[in-house]
Amino acid sequence: MAFPENFITELVERSDITEVVSGYVRLSKKSGSNLFGLCPFHSEKTPSFSVSPDKQIYHCFGCGKGGGVISFIMEIENLSFPEAVEFLARRANMPLPEQTDSAESRKRERMLALNKEAARFFREQLVSPGGEPGREYLARRRIGNKAATNFGLGFAPASWDSLETAMREKGFSDFELLDAGLVRRGKNGGFYDTFRNRLMFPVIDVRGNVIGFSGRILGDDEPKYMNSPETLVFNKSRNLFAMNLAKKSKSGYLILAEGNIDVVSLHQAGFDSAVASLGTSLTPEQARLISRYTNQVVIAYDNDGAGLKASQRAIGILEKLDLRVKVLRMSGAKDPDEFIQNKGPEAFRKLLEDAENQIDYRLKTVTDKYDLSVDEQKVDFLKEATELVARLPGAVERQVYAMRVAALAQVKEEPVLDEVERRRKRMLNSARQAMEREQSRPERQLQPADRELRYTDPGSAAAEEGLVRLLYLDPALGKTEGLPPPEDFSSPALGRIYGAIRGKIDRGEAVSTATLTEQLSLSEMSLLVELLQKPELLSRGEKTLREYIDKMREQKELASGRQDLRALANKLRERKGYEG
Ligand code: UTP
Ligand code: MN
Repeated sequence: MAFPENFITELVERSDITEVVSGYVRLSKKSGSNLFGLCPFHSEKTPSFSVSPDKQIYHCFGCGKGGGVISFIMEIENLSFPEAVEFLARRANMPLPEQTDSAESRKRERMLALNKEAARFFREQLVSPGGEPGREYLARRRIGNKAATNFGLGFAPASWDSLETAMREKGFSDFELLDAGLVRRGKNGGFYDTFRNRLMFPVIDVRGNVIGFSGRILGDDEPKYMNSPETLVFNKSRNLFAMNLAKKSKSGYLILAEGNIDVVSLHQAGFDSAVASLGTSLTPEQARLISRYTNQVVIAYDNDGAGLKASQRAIGILEKLDLRVKVLRMSGAKDPDEFIQNKGPEAFRKLLEDAENQIDYRLKTVTDKYDLSVDEQKVDFLKEATELVARLPGAVERQVYAMRVAALAQVKEEPVLDEVERRRKRMLNSARQAMEREQSRPERQLQPADRELRYTDPGSAAAEEGLVRLLYLDPALGKTEGLPPPEDFSSPALGRIYGAIRGKIDRGEAVSTATLTEQLSLSEMSLLVELLQKPELLSRGEKTLREYIDKMREQKELASGRQDLRALANKLRERKGYEG
């Protein structure tokens, strides 16, 4: 553990969850001892986010997120465990203890140091005589020295071991290089450089750490880019390329582009708030990161089908966080880089000023699809456009846009307005029904909201949850004979939670959300808190525990029995000679 247990315990005692959460969410008393508010992690109109001052936990019944005060800060501030601890310690005015560094945080620091050295190495290569191909490429893409320096661009030589050799000289081992994704393992067991003959973009987080690399090939071969794999310090879905620079921008909005090259080119042209999402489509975590620095985003994705689709998806994610979203419409260029190269920064600035808010944008997309002078097409247009307008949450907004639709189709306003409201009602009804249906399916009630945490055997899941709950609430039960191993759980996540709790019990450590936060992921913490919501009669703890263990065993046997039967059926079919 990076921090001594008693430090964490005291920190959590001095960081009342109600006070901490109140800094982000307006809480009010609703039922029992719990406080409720609008969930900061998903968009909603009625509060389903609850805080329990007694248990010092939070839980959202809508999105399933939950945990203790440390998880809350990790989640909302996008911080790692030690960072969240530091954040809370500063808030509580507690000095940080001498760090008894955990193996993991030491490893993390080594990897960051290695990445920094590697970035420096690539940088030196670019300016050395051997870096000619890299410099030529930059010139061809019209990326100047200033931009290259600003982004720390570098060059990976066309060699199998130049980085490896240089880093070993600096005292890093092959295994450290392997963990950082900078070398790979060959068939003969040796190591070779991952990035060869590429233009190197270091990926730098908002704290200034080099967390990974993106390497572009110098020609037109595929794949165009190679990225660092996920490592201890690199998580693509939580970071954005150039966010370290964009966060300092004074522009008041953020430009979201697709390509690294677009971003470099935009910054070079004076648009210093451009970022890119590292080759993935925008994730909710990235959107949350954005929302820490701005409330307005201009999407400047590529001008093609894929870009259009990605824009629509990004709009949805960004709007959930109440960010104002505009979409740039480029013509005559495939991406922002080409646009700026061809038409200059001033033309791009004009585009930004003209960027439409997303309703106008979507309405225009629909309008473009139809020839409104043809009656039949006009009907289809009205159908699609009223559907679009019906989805707008504000009544005034709906009215304004319904009138716009009527004007576009040159029909009377009244029927269009009626149609919009009719569709809206129908939409709300079917959404409600779908939700009720979903919630009344018994196996659904047992499934965690997070896909990664899904149970493979819902029949056993209730017993597994009960077992975890009991052990958490009454650690003395950890001494019971015949407790199943973590592998027997039908959900790996639940197995990990169970394993972590048992580990604490075996080592005689305290079992609490605070002490478990470091070992479990945020979604595992959410699952734990969710299952702690259900009541458990501690007075008959041991008896219930036995029942849970038996139920798990029974289900396991049932499942393997089903497998045996299936195998038998297959064999029989084969014997009869027809295909299964
Ligand atoms: P693009 O193909 O648009 O790249 O991919 P680009 O940076 O704009 O480069 P040019 O202008 O075509 O030369 C967009 C982003 O998707 C990721 C990279 O992060 C890239 O910047 N990507 C693309 C990959 O991760 N792998 C690939 O093979 C291609
Ligand atoms: Mn591109």
